[in-house]
Amino acid sequence: MRTTTHDAAACRTKVLPPINIWKWVEEHRDRLKPPVGNEYLYDGDGFFVMVIGGPNARNDFHLSGSEEYFFQIKGDIVVRIIEDGKIRDVPVREGETFFIPGGVPHSPTRPPGTIGVVVELRRPPGVTEHQQFYCAKCQGLVFDKEFDCADIVENFAQSMEDFWADPALSTCPTCGTRVTKPTPIKRIIFEPEVIIERQ
Ligand SMILES: [Fe+2]
Repeated sequence: MRTTTHDAAACRTKVLPPINIWKWVEEHRDRLKPPVGNEYLYDGDGFFVMVIGGPNARNDFHLSGSEEYFFQIKGDIVVRIIEDGKIRDVPVREGETFFIPGGVPHSPTRPPGTIGVVVELRRPPGVTEHQQFYCAKCQGLVFDKEFDCADIVENFAQSMEDFWADPALSTCPTCGTRVTKPTPIKRIIFEPEVIIERQ
C-alpha cells in the first residue's frame, strides 16, 4: 500500500512539481525497507527512476544490454560487477554517482539505512535480460537465465527462489561450492579491503 498519494506514472502526462527528495524519503520510509526496499520516484515512458533503501538480501547479478545510473544519497554501498570474468567490488559512497554500461553483470549490496537512486531504461517486450549467479569461491558462472523483459517483473523473484532451493542449479559446476540464499546485509567494511557481512 502506498503511504502517500504520489503517483510516479503521472510524470508521463503532466509536469509534476519538483520533489524534495528528503521529504519524499521521509514519506516513503516504510517502502524503503525490506521486503520491498524500493519505490518509483518517476515512472516514465522512456526511463524510470527508483529510490532504493537497504538492507537488501540478494546475491543475483543482473545483466541487460542497457545502461544504469546510480546516485547514492545516504550511506555507502558496494556494487559487485563482473569484469574480465572476475567479481570486482566497487564501493559507491554517499554523495557519489556511478554508471554501469550495458552488458556488465552487477549486483548491488546495500547495508541498513542506506538510500540510493537508480535510473534505468524501460526495456520493451521482445528485449531480453539475464539473471545470473556467480560462485563466491572460484567466481565462475553458476547460473544464467534469460528473460523477456515483459515477464521479468513477475518471474525474477520466483526464479531466484527456485535457484536457491535446487542443489542441481545452485552448485558451482567448476568447484562444487553451493550458492545459498543470502540473508540481509548487516554491514560492509570498506578498508583495507571490502568485506560484506550478512545478518
Ligand atoms: Fe566455483
